[in-house]
Amino acid sequence: MSTQLTPILTKFWDHPTSWTLATYEDNGGYQGLRKALRTEQADLVEMAKASGLRGRGGAGFPTGLKWSFLPPPDGGPRYLVVNADEAEPGTCKDIPLLMAAPQFLIEGMIITSFAIGCNHAFIYLRGEVAHVHRRVQRAIQEAYDASYLGTDILGTGYNLDITLHSGAGAYICGEETALLDSLEGRRGQPRLKPPFPAVAGLYARPTVVNNVESIASIAPIAAHGADWFADMGTEKSQGFGIFSLSGHVTRPGQYEAPLGITLRELLDMAGGIRNGRSLKFWTPGGSSTPLFTDKHLDVPLDFESVAAEGSMLGTRALQIFDDTTSVVRAVSRWTDFYAHESCGKCTPCREGTFWLKQIMHRLEAGRGSQDDIDKLVDICDNILGRAFCALGDGATSPITSAVQYFREEFEAGMHTPASELFPPERSTLF
Ligand code: NAI
Repeated sequence: MSTQLTPILTKFWDHPTSWTLATYEDNGGYQGLRKALRTEQADLVEMAKASGLRGRGGAGFPTGLKWSFLPPPDGGPRYLVVNADEAEPGTCKDIPLLMAAPQFLIEGMIITSFAIGCNHAFIYLRGEVAHVHRRVQRAIQEAYDASYLGTDILGTGYNLDITLHSGAGAYICGEETALLDSLEGRRGQPRLKPPFPAVAGLYARPTVVNNVESIASIAPIAAHGADWFADMGTEKSQGFGIFSLSGHVTRPGQYEAPLGITLRELLDMAGGIRNGRSLKFWTPGGSSTPLFTDKHLDVPLDFESVAAEGSMLGTRALQIFDDTTSVVRAVSRWTDFYAHESCGKCTPCREGTFWLKQIMHRLEAGRGSQDDIDKLVDICDNILGRAFCALGDGATSPITSAVQYFREEFEAGMHTPASELFPPERSTLF
């Protein structure tokens, strides 16, 4: 796999003032917008479709297709809402992008808003990151001062305002309809879909909800063309993406590469497994995606290949665990997270994650009973596909995959604590 075309979004992150408008423009920023403002709106939607860009928030839904679902203009407002509520465990690409080069998002938002006929766009930012709020707010102000935002943008007569809104630290508010409820000032809980936000979103108006990295990618696509993007990656998973390597890896961080790169190639870039140890298991796309093991080192990291192996590309949050790690302990921490973050709206998720947590704690403590593993799998089967949103499904993924690949560790949890099998002092992760 050639990675020579990347980096793009991460290209100048190590510049001392990477976040400023001046540095962004020095690196070709806002060329895409200038081209876009001279293009018909429908052609911009076609550009997004032809690029093959698929949602970078995890689900991989085709971005241009989502834009095309908006009903024809009726004279009322239509909105763009950027989902910057990045909170999937292990996922850490949007927040660094917003800190290092926020103008990619702002330029992408202006192009997208122009394409879909929106005059007021929103960024819903994760609540815990006050420093990012300050950085993005300043970037928005710089864009206003340079006439990229506000009225009569670059003398074209097009108007756009951007509002930055911080959440209050609830994982569920990353689910797009819970996000919209929260943005409207209500308690964030998922809405029934359909109607999808494209038809009835913010204030019941047609709304495009896209992830930060998706919209940021629109800026270089507008500058270089749909074919430039579509030529990267694989046939059905086109373009590039940011892969976040964390855990037992020598140089953790963000590695931008065409989709279809493998973990083996990414580990070569990241200096391999830390301290010369060996790979035990990893998440291809955050903790809501089924685990992979050392058998999956050469699976191309694109939507289709990862799915064919029983997992999901998700957010490309590659959490790497070496042979000192207890899979039971790791999965138990994730289960605590899902039980804590379940919004309580639907019974399978609210009750199911609570029961899963009890059983995982027993197995972690070496006090599991004979039927605990069957019970775990049975509860997961009863949550999967029956919860109101993807949170419940996500909670089951690490458990069922860990039982599939490491059943003997779960069986050991009937008599031996994880802390004895895998002494925490040997692993720095937990
Ligand atoms: P989804 O597949 O239901 O929807 C994906 C997008 O496509 C949504 O914007 C939806 O409105 C749109 N869509 C789907 N079908 C449509 C239709 N027929 N008409 C119009 N629009 C349509 O997935 P969902 O529940 O939005 O996201 C799940 C993913 O989120 C998971 O795969 C996970 O990887 C990811 N995730 C990401 C997190 C993060 O921090 N970035 C946190 C948690 C989960």
